[in-house]
Amino acid sequence: MDKLVSIWSKSKPLPESYVFPPETRPGNLNVLTSKTIPVIDLRQNRADVVHQILKAGEEYGFFQVVNHGVPEDVMNESMGVFKEFFEMPAEDKTMLYSEDPTNRCRLSTSSANYAREKVHHWRDKLRHPCHPDLQDCVKLWPQKPIRYREVVATFSIELKKLGSWILELVAEGLGLECGYFGDKLSESMMLSVNHYPPCPDPSLTLGLSKHCDPDIITILLQGGVKGLQVFNNGEWISVEPLHNAFIVNIGSLLQIVSNDRLKSVEHRVVTNSRVARTTAAFFISPSDDSIIEPAKSLTSDASVYRAFGFKEFMLHYLPNLENNEVVMEHFKLQA
Ligand code: OGA
Ligand code: NI
Repeated sequence: MDKLVSIWSKSKPLPESYVFPPETRPGNLNVLTSKTIPVIDLRQNRADVVHQILKAGEEYGFFQVVNHGVPEDVMNESMGVFKEFFEMPAEDKTMLYSEDPTNRCRLSTSSANYAREKVHHWRDKLRHPCHPDLQDCVKLWPQKPIRYREVVATFSIELKKLGSWILELVAEGLGLECGYFGDKLSESMMLSVNHYPPCPDPSLTLGLSKHCDPDIITILLQGGVKGLQVFNNGEWISVEPLHNAFIVNIGSLLQIVSNDRLKSVEHRVVTNSRVARTTAAFFISPSDDSIIEPAKSLTSDASVYRAFGFKEFMLHYLPNLENNEVVMEHFKLQA
């Protein structure tokens, strides 16, 4: 449990086990590109919003949303307890540390494969479910900071609403029936609070290496510190923090349901030496027993993917975390 980066990061230089091979290091951290991901105002007229979401999903796989309906104080208080959680003394955090993936609320570090990975990632992560049954989930959550459960319960309700709204807009844009994502496909919601302490040498390591999210959509509260980068047309573009915005990205399962119209795009996290960065990722996923397949109305030309169970997807995703092509290829019809 002294594996948690937030516990030892201030007291030593970057350990060798956190040094990435040259080809996957962050490269020029100050790269200046004029490109950014689209920012979408959800309170414009509906047809414009739908059009912009679809276009962003096709071109970037990522966008930010503003005027999204989640009250500012809910965002601020949630970010407040997330930061407080990681600032707690080591003994409060080690109580929640677990390497057992079946443990539903746990604090861990690096990726899901700590024991097997070649290089460790510069991040700690608190992860727990938020839905389908919120009351049932809350009982699993940390009891410290004392306001954690109350604040995060409100946050979860708001994020569930926002997620349903965005998925309705996506369904409309794809020409699917209203409520297409409303049931099994978005039944499970998971919160992952990421913490990236200041790093002694950001040029050698990563907070998270490149990956796609294995879900329908992810809604991310980035806070005020940049670090997220999105792969686009051969370059990494940095997602600038935007006051009161959420970052939304298309998950690999939504790419499949859309029959490759929307893109699940690789992203990664770089570290910095000045300030800790805390983010909260809200993953919206199918229920365990769901069958995933391209929507019938989108396969008139040809279906790119076969039907498969969500569990099968996860079994194949986890060992291939950093190789999205291998993951997607496995579910293609001609594979
Ligand atoms: C993730 C993720 C980005 C961030 O948790 O899957 O991509 O900025 N997080 O923390
Ligand atoms: Ni991600």
